[in-house]
Amino acid sequence: MNDTVAGARGVFGSRIGFILTAAGSAIGLGNIWRFPYMAGESGGAAFVLLYLCFVLALGFPVMLAEFAIGQATRQSGSRAFTTLVPGTRWRWIGTLGVLTGLAILAFYSVVAGWSLGYLVKAFQGDFSRELTAEASAAIFTDFIASPSQSAAMAAAVIAATVAIVLKGVSKGIERASLILMPIFFLLLIGLSVHSLQLPGAADGLAFLFAPDLSKVSLRVVMSALGQAFFSLSLGMGVMITYSSYLTQKKGLPGMALSSIAADTSVALLAGVTLFPAIFSVGASPQGGPGLAFITFPTIFADLPAGTGVAIAFYALLFIASITSTVSLLEVVVAHSVDRYGWRRPRTVIGASLIALLVALPCALSFGGSQALSSLFGVQDGFFGILNIAFGNFALVIGALCICLFVGWRWGIRPALNALGVAEGSWLARLLSLEIRFVCPICISAVLAFIALTGSFF
Ligand code: PFF
Repeated sequence: MNDTVAGARGVFGSRIGFILTAAGSAIGLGNIWRFPYMAGESGGAAFVLLYLCFVLALGFPVMLAEFAIGQATRQSGSRAFTTLVPGTRWRWIGTLGVLTGLAILAFYSVVAGWSLGYLVKAFQGDFSRELTAEASAAIFTDFIASPSQSAAMAAAVIAATVAIVLKGVSKGIERASLILMPIFFLLLIGLSVHSLQLPGAADGLAFLFAPDLSKVSLRVVMSALGQAFFSLSLGMGVMITYSSYLTQKKGLPGMALSSIAADTSVALLAGVTLFPAIFSVGASPQGGPGLAFITFPTIFADLPAGTGVAIAFYALLFIASITSTVSLLEVVVAHSVDRYGWRRPRTVIGASLIALLVALPCALSFGGSQALSSLFGVQDGFFGILNIAFGNFALVIGALCICLFVGWRWGIRPALNALGVAEGSWLARLLSLEIRFVCPICISAVLAFIALTGSFF
């Protein structure tokens, strides 16, 4: 994207730049950290199967619905909704997205800070010696319980995000992604090949891919639904904002599919790397948010050039998470600039200070503060509440509202037109069916069951 000049909107220089930025937002800690631990907690393959169904059946149409809004309006946040349907309450979808963006940015920065901290540890050679799962767990617990370390790392993540967003998102990061993300992908393939050779790897694979449908509960369905939207960065307007910067609308469905394919393969590769390693040492897949951080070091310690691999891995993971935090902050900033005409630099600083303020209690939710760690009896306290409320529920509700808006208020015809999809084509019929019926019915059914039974909590 070219730099923004005094309020003028930036644009993407190329299609590949757009795909990379969308995939850059999607691929991140959601794939490497959140997907494996949620799968582990939710019974493995049953969760994975549901997740894959939701990604394809719901993720694809919701992504295109967001692209259509951004393309048609060249606006973001609540302004995009009022441009299409002036003077209605639908604009609150944009506002919900902004709040969600700030909340996710806050807790996400803490985890991105963990990868930064682990990069430092890798440089210090901490992963060069034989490491048991217990020893690795002890290192992790020590690290996250230190309020100053956790908070400082989260602050560093937010500062890096600010530096990039201030420059006008791309140039550097767009080009860097072009080279670095394929390397990350290759590294993950290499690690997964290693994991697959571990004794007991088959048990890990069975856990991940042989579904036991008796494990499906409402909680598992909701977790898979939330994770599908979280991983694809949907439901809060990231894709509205990014597509509003795109000047040509050719091939949007293909671009959506490319981003989805890239994102899903990274999540599956993370699973194929982690679960064989977890099962080979007889550890529990239900390790919670620490699962990936505890398991990866045991893999590196096992490799010939472990320290080098660990450094490369954490550096690339950090970069992958920064391309996601950038998109989160960008939604908040673009909304404020489009809606209120605020100046970009000031808005970036203001929004990031709010995110930092919320990130601090998140960083203290792992033992740093007793009260925050066990707030309302939820696992991981304040952090856990934001993770579930915004990382799952707010995105799912946002996606529902976006479908209702596009399918029933703005209209499927103008949306198809904005996407450049010919009316009457099979894709037009599929999208119409999905956006108007399948997505709203599936999502409302899950939410209604949860509301009626209270069985998520
Ligand atoms: N999709 C990102 C990941 O999987 O790491 C996280 C994320 C970014 C979620 C942007 C939501 C969002 F709007």
